[in-house]
Amino acid sequence: MTVTLLGVVGAGSMGSGIIEVAAKAGVAVLARDIDAAAISAGARRIDESLDAAVQRGKLDDRARDLARGRIEFTTDLADLARCELVIEAAPELLELKRSIFAALDEVLGPDAILATNTSSIPVIDIAMETGRPERVCGMHFFNPATVMKLVEVVATQRTAPEVVDAAAGFAEEVLGKRVVRCKDRAGFVVNALLVPFLCQAIAMFEAGHATAEDIDDAMKLGAGHPMGPLALCDLIGLDIMLWSAESLHAEYGERFLAPPPLLRRMVAAGQLGRKSGTGFYDY
Ligand code: 3HC
Repeated sequence: MTVTLLGVVGAGSMGSGIIEVAAKAGVAVLARDIDAAAISAGARRIDESLDAAVQRGKLDDRARDLARGRIEFTTDLADLARCELVIEAAPELLELKRSIFAALDEVLGPDAILATNTSSIPVIDIAMETGRPERVCGMHFFNPATVMKLVEVVATQRTAPEVVDAAAGFAEEVLGKRVVRCKDRAGFVVNALLVPFLCQAIAMFEAGHATAEDIDDAMKLGAGHPMGPLALCDLIGLDIMLWSAESLHAEYGERFLAPPPLLRRMVAAGQLGRKSGTGFYDY
């Protein structure tokens, strides 16, 4: 499959990362978000990240300008009609994702592929909202998408093998990512292993076992992790952490997968991590 125009729905922290990765790889991107404010926040995030890449010597000025020139924004989902592949990176709300997929199904060409970047919702629950579940798969990127090398490509019971191959081929050959193919199970591979670990760190902090700084330093210095688990929760977003933990708990029913009470309280309090300015740390 040749992607001459990639659609991305949602220019939040994951969506803007995916947009930037594709634009740097030479792909024209049409990104849709709900209003001018969301679009300008997404565009600013991308500009800052492209500038940071230049400052780090990862990109020259010309490549940054070319990448920026490949990105266009719209508020109208119908404008995505020409896209061969659309990656949805909207908030983790099932009904919202379903309505986006139903609307995309109306406007996209019959051969187009619809992918969701969901971290916690079963892909089939979204796919069945379309008249083409065989052309729907998961493409799960990791935060920060510009730096993390993995994409999980998720096949549902209904995804056609050639759609999985096309999505994986695009992620690998065009975006330069390492692809892991996996089944449509809560948490896929990474979150099924990572989220329980992060919840254990939250529970340990809640129990007063050690300070946040000590828990994080322990895993950085004692286990070689690039960042500590509580700092990573703040990076991922505590709302996304909660949704992921709930999804794992709902799927497998194990007590140890239940989100710790502190995680629920922090989300209720609007302490979502970096994006809200406060989480386990202040930003
Ligand atoms: N553009 C391009 N490259 C960039 C960049 C940017 N905007 N920002 C950073 N980089 C590059 C740097 O140049 C550097 O590359 P190098 O190793 O080749 O020199 C590399 O990224 C690391 O950058 P830094 O050295 O400045 O930063 P750190 O060493 O502090 O690393 C981090 C930051 C990459 C976030 C690292 O701490 C890390 O890997 N943390 C773990 C992140 C993680 O686990 N993410 C997955 C979360 S789970 C998820 O997302 C799933 C969801 O569903 C919940």
